Amino acid sequence: MRFRLTPSEPEQAEGPLTAREIELVRASAAVVEPLAADMTVYFYAILFARYPQVRPMFPPGMDAQRGRLLRALLRIVDLVDDPGGLVRFCGHLGRDHRKFGTLDAHFPAVGECLLASLARFAGPAWTEEIAAAWAKAYGVVSEVMIGAAREDAAVRPAVWPATVVHRVPRGNGIAEITLRPHLPYAYTAGQYVSVETPWWPGQWRYYSPANAPREDGTLTLHVRAVPGGTVSSALVDRAAVGDVVRLGAPMGDMVLDAAAHSDLLFVAGGTGLAPIRALVEDIALRGGRHQVDLFLGARTGAELYGVDDMLRMSQRHHWLKIRGAVSHEPIPGLRGSLPDVLAEFGPWDQHDVYLSGPARMVVSATETLTRRGTQPDRIHHDPFETPVLSLP
Ligand SMILES: Cc1cc2nc3c(=O)[nH]c(=O)nc-3n(C[C@H](O)[C@H](O)[C@H](O)COP(=O)(O)OP(=O)(O)OC[C@H]3O[C@@H](n4cnc5c(N)ncnc54)[C@H](O)[C@@H]3O)c2cc1C
Ligand code: HEM
Repeated sequence: MRFRLTPSEPEQAEGPLTAREIELVRASAAVVEPLAADMTVYFYAILFARYPQVRPMFPPGMDAQRGRLLRALLRIVDLVDDPGGLVRFCGHLGRDHRKFGTLDAHFPAVGECLLASLARFAGPAWTEEIAAAWAKAYGVVSEVMIGAAREDAAVRPAVWPATVVHRVPRGNGIAEITLRPHLPYAYTAGQYVSVETPWWPGQWRYYSPANAPREDGTLTLHVRAVPGGTVSSALVDRAAVGDVVRLGAPMGDMVLDAAAHSDLLFVAGGTGLAPIRALVEDIALRGGRHQVDLFLGARTGAELYGVDDMLRMSQRHHWLKIRGAVSHEPIPGLRGSLPDVLAEFGPWDQHDVYLSGPARMVVSATETLTRRGTQPDRIHHDPFETPVLSLP
């Protein structure tokens, strides 16, 4: 199978898929779906055997990536008759791939191996007509990804090297790491950034700056080393002043609506405090036009980090009220999980709500708040994992 889309044949818009082609793509996807785990193992095996030059772009352990590629493909199959949704999703994917070093010329290679894998796992159900429908669908997807990446390349770099300029251990496996990007790095308070360290090339992880953009361009991350975690442990235990990491473009919609004047409820568990702290700084820089109730939570008093810093902020800013919640230790006045403690206060039904922390906490706080009248569209939080796959 030959793909039309190569760097020497610049893009021309593929026509949309016909109803018959959509049906063929969906029906064959349903045939291979139960075998998808084996199919993706096979896909990467042939990709790396036929095109060894792309292997270094991927992390050594491929387990997580296998699942993500598959979920993206299934999402694409779902969107195949929704051109607007497909362009939005594949556009994000294309921009996101710039930091991985993906080139236009890689797309035909990936397409060839993808079709070979589909053909093998669909078995006798595979026909020339199905192959042609998949080739067309893949052509459309890669055209959108390449186009979005090119547009993005016209306005910003793919990655920003950034030097570690300060590192403060905060106890309980948490460190604050301040980075100075070598090029201007524009982001909005509340967004997160992807980070690649020199110790784990190809392993990108997300961290939220804990500050609103500063004049000197530095940004401070709050990183918790998770047990057995590669990148978080390297950042907490190994990173030193002078080390250089790489940042991908900022992402995320948990930002303030500049036009809104509503009261705000912020709820932060653990290092989930980072983007919330950035939002508090942002409000202060805008002149404190909101009343803010901030709940900080942890399992034990010792883990309740960042409280002193936030109390200092609340002493400076009359609009900021702080409360703590400790779930696994009897501390007078602070006992309970964040959702339980939230339920004791309120009402929150007229607030815009920003939740940040472990997925469990975010889910249960969302349940508590919606039960008590907060509209779901006023509750904001970051995706729990691979952001591009969590796009609505
Ligand atoms: C939008 C977003 C923003 C984030 N912001 C921050 C932040 O500001 N500060 C911060 O410290 N982290 C943040 N994270 C989590 C961070 O991106 C990494 O997932 C985390 O540091 C673990 O990476 P790792 O390479 O050390 O672990 P991996 O090597 O990926 O995983 C090692 C093991 O740890 C488990 N694991 C992975 N993540 C967690 C976790 N969070 N808790 C418990 N176990 C885990 C895995 O299942 C695996 O078994 C954010 C994640 C997202 C999606
Ligand atoms: C239809 C085409 C493609 C789809 C649907 C796709 C999908 C994905 C998805 C969903 C991710 C995870 C994103 C993330 O973690 O933020 C990913 C990561 C990645 N992709 Fe693709 N991709 C495609 C094409 C390509 C091509 C052409 C290359 C070039 C070789 C490539 C190389 C990579 C690399 C290196 C990663 C990072 C791996 C990792 O972090 O584990 N992809 N891809």
